[in-house]
Amino acid sequence: PHKLQKMEAKTVLERSNCRAKGGSPGFKVAILGASGGIGQPLSMLMKMNPLVSVLHLYDVANTPGVTSDISHMDTGAVVRGFLGPQQLENALTGMDLVIMPAGVPRKPGMTRDDLFNINAGIVKTLCEGIAKCCPKAIVNIISNPVNSTVPIAAEVFKKAGTYDPKRLLGVTMLDVVRANTFVAEVLGLDPREVDVPVVGGHAGVTILPLLSQIKPPCSFTSEEAAYLTSRIQNGGTEVVEAKAGAGSATLSMAYAAVKFADACLRGLRGDADVIKCAFVPSAVTELPFFASKVRLGRNGVEEVYTLGPMNEFERAGLEMAKKELAGSIEKGVSFATK
Ligand code: NAD
Ligand code: LMR
Repeated sequence: PHKLQKMEAKTVLERSNCRAKGGSPGFKVAILGASGGIGQPLSMLMKMNPLVSVLHLYDVANTPGVTSDISHMDTGAVVRGFLGPQQLENALTGMDLVIMPAGVPRKPGMTRDDLFNINAGIVKTLCEGIAKCCPKAIVNIISNPVNSTVPIAAEVFKKAGTYDPKRLLGVTMLDVVRANTFVAEVLGLDPREVDVPVVGGHAGVTILPLLSQIKPPCSFTSEEAAYLTSRIQNGGTEVVEAKAGAGSATLSMAYAAVKFADACLRGLRGDADVIKCAFVPSAVTELPFFASKVRLGRNGVEEVYTLGPMNEFERAGLEMAKKELAGSIEKGVSFATK
């Protein structure tokens, strides 16, 4: 029986490799940090995404268990697990999209920038792997502080000679998800009907919801605008405090990450008019990176949209956002170039 089990395992592996190779339509996606609070639900939701044919789960801990568990789901994607730095290259080779939620989360009283010392090095190492093994992949960076980790990624790719600004995106989708939810609550609407552009970055005052551009068009009193802006900017802290030391947003983040990754994959497939907000290399302000609406296509970011008309409250917010962002971007760049 032992011999038979071994043979069966080999046959299963061969068949799954064959299925993965055999041109079943879909994309190859790697999740780096797949065993974490975000990584696990994100891996589950990506396993359910019909656009994914191969799903690689990489982490420095616990991937065998997570992979075994998720691989039992009767959906199309072939799942493979990779554990530790010596397996990073195999995890990344051939990937179309890499999603990165690796790194430590906040505890109450911390800012996202307090995570820089640990997460900057993690992001740098993982991006060096991407540059080597899948330099054409679209990269979705979730690891905080996003305002600095995206510039770090850009510098790593520049150094490796693989930098393509169209393929590097910081994930700010959770800010949009929160904005839609909180605005819908105030207006008594279904959140699925609401679309709030959120620009700037992903920390405190750099998170700038443009309530004047909301769809469907609605107007707010100055009290409502101030309340909503503050709640959206502090949404992450609201969760960190409620979790009281057990981490930050994971479930809503996994939901947001999949919403965003799905948009990237639809863009890669060639769907028209796939537009989402993201923190990207940008020329819409004087800063080298900025979050705004972008159009996703076969090459990643095909178009970065300008900010559009803003009211006085938003223009003042923009000035504050740019001031803080400039420092966070510079911190990332100097870390990666030192
Ligand atoms: P977590 O601690 O639960 O999980 C992180 C995972 O990363 C762990 O499984 C850990 O083993 C893994 N990891 C650590 N070093 C690694 C390495 N070198 N290579 C691969 N994996 C590694 O944390 P979490 O709650 O999942 O949050 C992860 C990150 O996402 C944090 O930095 C957090 O601040 C950030 N985050 C960002 C957003 C956003 O909107 N962009 C939202 C929520 C959280
Ligand atoms: C969030 O917005 O929930 C994340 O950036 C995590 C955090 O630290 O707030």
